Amino acid sequence: MPSVTVVLGTRPEAIKLAPVILAARASPSMAVTVCNTGQHADMTAGILSLFGIVPDIDLAVMKPNQSLTDITGAVLRTLEPVLGERRPDWLIVQGDTTSAFAAALAAFYARTPVAHVEAGLRTGDIHAPWPEEMNRLLITDIARLHFAPLESNAANLQREGVPPARIVVTGNTGIDALKWIIGRLAADKRLAESAQRALDATKVDALRAGAGAQIVLITGHRRESFGEGFRNICAALAELARRFPERHFIYPVHPNPEVRDTVQRELGGMLANLHLIEPLDYLPFVLLMTRAELILTDSGGIQEEAPSIGKRVIVLRQITERTEGVETGLIRLAGTDRARIVADAAAAFEGRWPPKPEGSDVYGDGRAAERIVAALAAVSRT
Ligand code: UD1
Ligand code: UDP
Repeated sequence: MPSVTVVLGTRPEAIKLAPVILAARASPSMAVTVCNTGQHADMTAGILSLFGIVPDIDLAVMKPNQSLTDITGAVLRTLEPVLGERRPDWLIVQGDTTSAFAAALAAFYARTPVAHVEAGLRTGDIHAPWPEEMNRLLITDIARLHFAPLESNAANLQREGVPPARIVVTGNTGIDALKWIIGRLAADKRLAESAQRALDATKVDALRAGAGAQIVLITGHRRESFGEGFRNICAALAELARRFPERHFIYPVHPNPEVRDTVQRELGGMLANLHLIEPLDYLPFVLLMTRAELILTDSGGIQEEAPSIGKRVIVLRQITERTEGVETGLIRLAGTDRARIVADAAAAFEGRWPPKPEGSDVYGDGRAAERIVAALAAVSRT
């Protein structure tokens, strides 16, 4: 029976690995250990409990305001004894965070094979997203098995010399999670009520059930935008909130102090229809996405989720590794340019950028985790 250790640390890793953990646990031929690095101690607990996952190991690396070096060193140091003791057949990491990269490196030192979920995403610019593009490249060099969400990601890997036999195209596991939650929100009244209660707890009247408000949802946290980029984004949001006073702009602010301080300084208490709130748990966040008229974000995961539910997105980045969404017509790249952000949002509000309520499965059909577990089981048999 192959043993797999799944390492996660941040919010997107918890969301995107939850379906993989559940599918692996459901497989009679796999022994699964879940290891939380604790990089996002505050933001992963609710997600894991929503999916009924209790980590077996908590590396507890989070310290306020820590540097990338701090996280890398702490994960390397704390994971080493875990791998030495458990000796798993596979270590699974997801995406491009510091937790994922450091865990892959720790596995390399321990001579544990690495399987990489969400492999092959590339912008071609090692500074954007920073440091994630470099983390992706380094994890690819280490990994033995590469789960590419889309054909384009597999093609990137092949161009870099990864043998095709080591690549499996799976779809995005984040879409598995999203479809599962949307299905449960529709089928489970009590779960839907608890999501609404979490929105009520924000004390924003526009988020109350039946308020019928027009909602614009915003997230932003990319390190390469810190400084001028973030100030431009804030200026665009203030301009939009003034120009469209009947709409409510809801911004769950990422806990990174650099983000918090800038957003609070530039936008705090400024306009009655611009609401800065705490990060939302995944369940109420999904409910809010389904209600949103438009989403402005620099998040990778939200760029994948929004097309799946037919939502238009303005991407607050100069460059994206998720180009398929742009081709659906639901995603526009505005960068951190104030005028472009305002122009694209105005186009959406004024009917010059029509919605597509039918959505698109371009990022996945909800069965990625199943494919990953089947491929791991097959490769472990050979
Ligand atoms: C990290 C990932 C990024 C991912 C993002 C998702 C890296 C290098 N970056 O960025 O790829 O897109 O997560 O959100 O791995 N903090 C808390 N509580 C939390 C989480 C963070 O207080 O639950 C604060 C801490 O002060 C922490 C800071 O935010 O030091 C930054 O967190 P960190 O994980 O270093 O980077 P992110 O910007 O969140
Ligand atoms: N998300 C959430 N609450 C929030 C903001 C985002 O649950 O307040 C979810 C969102 O649905 C997506 C994921 O978190 O699945 C994206 O995480 P993030 O933007 O932190 O990271 P990225 O995708 O950029 O790596």
